[in-house]
Amino acid sequence: MTEIKYVHGYSTREATRLNDQADTLDDIIHNDSLFAEDSLVLEAGCGVGAQTKIIATKNLRTNFISVDISEESVNQARASIGEMGIKNVEFRQADIFNLPFKAELFDSVIVCFVLEHLHDPAKALIELKRVLKKGGSIMVIEGDHGSTFFYPDSKYAHLAIDCQVQLQKQNGGNSNIGRELYPLLKSAGFSDVIVSPRMVYVDSSRPQLVEGFIKNTFTAMIEGIENDSVQKGLIDRQSFGKGIQDLYRTAEPDGVFSYTFFKGFGTK
Ligand SMILES: C[S@@+](CC[C@H](N)C(=O)[O-])C[C@H]1O[C@@H](n2cnc3c(N)ncnc32)[C@H](O)[C@@H]1O
Repeated sequence: MTEIKYVHGYSTREATRLNDQADTLDDIIHNDSLFAEDSLVLEAGCGVGAQTKIIATKNLRTNFISVDISEESVNQARASIGEMGIKNVEFRQADIFNLPFKAELFDSVIVCFVLEHLHDPAKALIELKRVLKKGGSIMVIEGDHGSTFFYPDSKYAHLAIDCQVQLQKQNGGNSNIGRELYPLLKSAGFSDVIVSPRMVYVDSSRPQLVEGFIKNTFTAMIEGIENDSVQKGLIDRQSFGKGIQDLYRTAEPDGVFSYTFFKGFGTK
């Protein structure tokens, strides 16, 4: 089985962050995550079910099979979806590189914030294509840390963000994968490929995004890699702390923060 090297780890804090992220971005990234009634959809890399609850609720007449390589996350996802009374999802532990499904089983596939963590995202897309029916569709949603800008600008904040880019690279992933969705989907052989950028622009006139995105999604993610970054010699603790302080500074009344996610669509 593929070794799990998930840069953010599997802590309770990370599970909370994934849920905050999913709830905050619902309208921006899932407004068009719509699937045909009675179709079968594979959600690959479901984690603790943060996106699952959103897509399953939006598509109550669609059947989902949601998988993740982490047995613990799958168990957490199953428990929380069960508590919410959502009945159209079945969970399984599975590796995206070696899915336990026959060819052409699924009508659609959705992958959210997973390819960025994989050493060979192109290979994962080919395996996802294998289990997709001819004419079936794939949706892939990823971020790109190179799309981050903010006011007031800060050298330290950029240095802290760059630690995440470097750590993810050391783990075999790519924090800037959003810009590669088009070539990745094309090279995996999907047709009708379309990529749509989803910009999250935040200033204090959007208080929900100030809390939900600047603080609880993005800065919480960068804060979570402090020890790893310092221990691996990527930055000193003081500079990292200043970077985090400056990211929170963008959440003040005169601050601005922007980040772009990318959503790719393709057909088999
Ligand atoms: C950032 S989390 C995203 C989880 C969820 N999609 C969300 O957006 O909340 C990335 C997930 O990918 C999973 N993952 C990493 N490698 C995997 C693999 N080879 N097969 C299946 N899942 C994998 C991790 O276990 C983790 O749960």
